[in-house]
Amino acid sequence: MKAIQLQETSGIDALSYEEVPRPEPEENELVIRAHAAGVNPLDWLICRGVLPHLRDTELPWTPGWDVSGIVEAVGSGVSEFATGDAVCGMARLPGGGGAYAEYITVTTDEITAKPSSLSHLEAAGMPMAGQTAFHALYEAGNLSQGQDVLVHAAAGGVGHMAVQFAANTGAHVVGTASERNEAFLRDIGVDEFVNYRKEQFEDEVNEVDLVVDTVGGDVLERSVKIARP
Ligand SMILES: NC(=O)c1ccc[n+]([C@@H]2O[C@H](COP(=O)([O-])OP(=O)(O)OC[C@H]3O[C@@H](n4cnc5c(N)ncnc54)[C@H](OP(=O)(O)O)[C@@H]3O)[C@@H](O)[C@H]2O)c1
Repeated sequence: MKAIQLQETSGIDALSYEEVPRPEPEENELVIRAHAAGVNPLDWLICRGVLPHLRDTELPWTPGWDVSGIVEAVGSGVSEFATGDAVCGMARLPGGGGAYAEYITVTTDEITAKPSSLSHLEAAGMPMAGQTAFHALYEAGNLSQGQDVLVHAAAGGVGHMAVQFAANTGAHVVGTASERNEAFLRDIGVDEFVNYRKEQFEDEVNEVDLVVDTVGGDVLERSVKIARP
């Protein structure tokens, strides 16, 4: 099969299109024929060797965690999925990867049925950003209906997932982004919009119960000032 492989951790120029062996499923694994793979900041951070805990990964290495595709083969211990199922998910993190390829092995707890309302392209963009947003809002943030949440970089990969989750929970959602993203954000559930390029969010927003910040630096420090104790 074909795979995009990293030859050395020097950046995306070290990616090349290679012929590699097609994977076979272990007992509790399945093989997905990839229709689409997601690209996240983690991919280039690892390709450039910025994240040291993955530097030891054997090279050449196939990047990519987010995948959407069709189940091609299942291991003998797999009963939840069958050949031909449309699935999406995120493979083994940290380590692993392998989504930039025609076929990838995953375990059953790493995938779910692909929502029929989403294309493979859309579904492959969802897992990592969606899990990050979900963790921030509900596992770390305990968000509940009626609370006020400020989402920075609201039109970004994590941000636009956080906006939709929070709006669906019935929270009051404030989003920061550039002007060009205002209509998009209002459409997906932002109640209040702040153009961070022109306005200081702390001047525009009252206290909030929760802040989702994927920007960091002074944005984090300024956010603490408007977070309810
Ligand atoms: N994607 C993931 O799955 C994931 C998972 C875990 C962690 N992370 C981390 O989260 C961070 C963001 O990742 P992402 O994928 O969500 O990014 P992204 O899709 O690249 O979005 C980044 C956005 O940040 C916005 N931005 C920049 N400066 C800002 C500021 N001062 N205030 C408000 N918004 C600002 C810009 O929005 P405008 O275009 O509107 O100007 C930009 O489009 C990265 O550090 C990444 O490593 C990402």
